[in-house]
Amino acid sequence: MEYTTLGRTGLKVSVAGLGCGGFSRLGLGTGKSETDAIAIIRAALDLGVNLFDTAAAYGTEPVLGKALAGVPRDKVVICTKAPFGISNPDSLPERAVASLDRSLKELGTDYIDVYQLHGIAPRVYDHALKVLAPALLREREKGKFRWLGITETSPGDPEHQMIKRAARDGAWDVVMVAFHMMHQNARRHVFPLTQDDPLGFLVHEGGATSVVDAAYRFVRHEPGVDVVLFGTGDHAHLRSNIASILKPPLPEADRARLASLFGHLVGVGLDAPHLSRAGRVTTS
Ligand SMILES: NC(=O)c1ccc[n+]([C@@H]2O[C@H](COP(=O)([O-])OP(=O)(O)OC[C@H]3O[C@@H](n4cnc5c(N)ncnc54)[C@H](OP(=O)(O)O)[C@@H]3O)[C@@H](O)[C@H]2O)c1
Repeated sequence: MEYTTLGRTGLKVSVAGLGCGGFSRLGLGTGKSETDAIAIIRAALDLGVNLFDTAAAYGTEPVLGKALAGVPRDKVVICTKAPFGISNPDSLPERAVASLDRSLKELGTDYIDVYQLHGIAPRVYDHALKVLAPALLREREKGKFRWLGITETSPGDPEHQMIKRAARDGAWDVVMVAFHMMHQNARRHVFPLTQDDPLGFLVHEGGATSVVDAAYRFVRHEPGVDVVLFGTGDHAHLRSNIASILKPPLPEADRARLASLFGHLVGVGLDAPHLSRAGRVTTS
């Protein structure tokens, strides 16, 4: 198994996580038994899987709890979700808290690693952010869960309207998004917002030596551009900027990725200089 860091949580998680919902529900959805489901979870553990995603709505929290009993708690990352629907009583904050308490009981654990609001549609996002999240964060202070997450309702929100807002808000530690071969638009709409280092792909052998190097080379080789202006008061920057501007274009794949990720943006990073108290023009 390979392990990675789950966003800003810092949790070390397997790159393959076992989903306990969907059509399969660990096989329970297709007529298999609880014993079979426990065997699947244990086999996943043996193969190095340490992240398990369930939800109150899936009905698989008890079986996951049974399968993980006896496994040291810090060896697994348990993610579960509060049921949600603006028209049902679970959308009340006290119901979400009651569901959290029920999940803890059914999973047989003292805390949940990632507690998520389940399937939030764009029209109810304000309620999730302003009413449910604060109520749940008060429970987090009591130690009931460690990180707050949100998941989209992908069939009803294929353009990721909700996650586009959530990823910018900073209120959520984890977002769950639908992405697959025939539904790739999260690459443009979501992933640039969720990466700690969204431009890191530019720095590699044969590519740029730094993001600053990439920035100057990107502009220098754009057809239509004759002169690249750079501002600096630093001698090292003066030299490295000129060196970057004299380098060849970025690899074509990197240019294409920049175009696809950011080509639709307009007006970003155009802050005007402002006057400092000393009356000099400064930039921020
Ligand atoms: N909004 C949300 O919060 C949300 C939405 C969707 C999903 N999720 C999470 O994401 C997880 C994964 O979702 P999903 O849609 O992939 O789950 P799913 O609906 O269970 O889909 C997997 C399906 O593919 C089959 N399958 C799996 N491996 C296969 C293989 N190698 N060859 C052929 N068929 C195979 C499974 O059947 P078998 O049992 O026969 O393998 C199952 O029917 C869920 O369990 C849930 O945790 C969350």
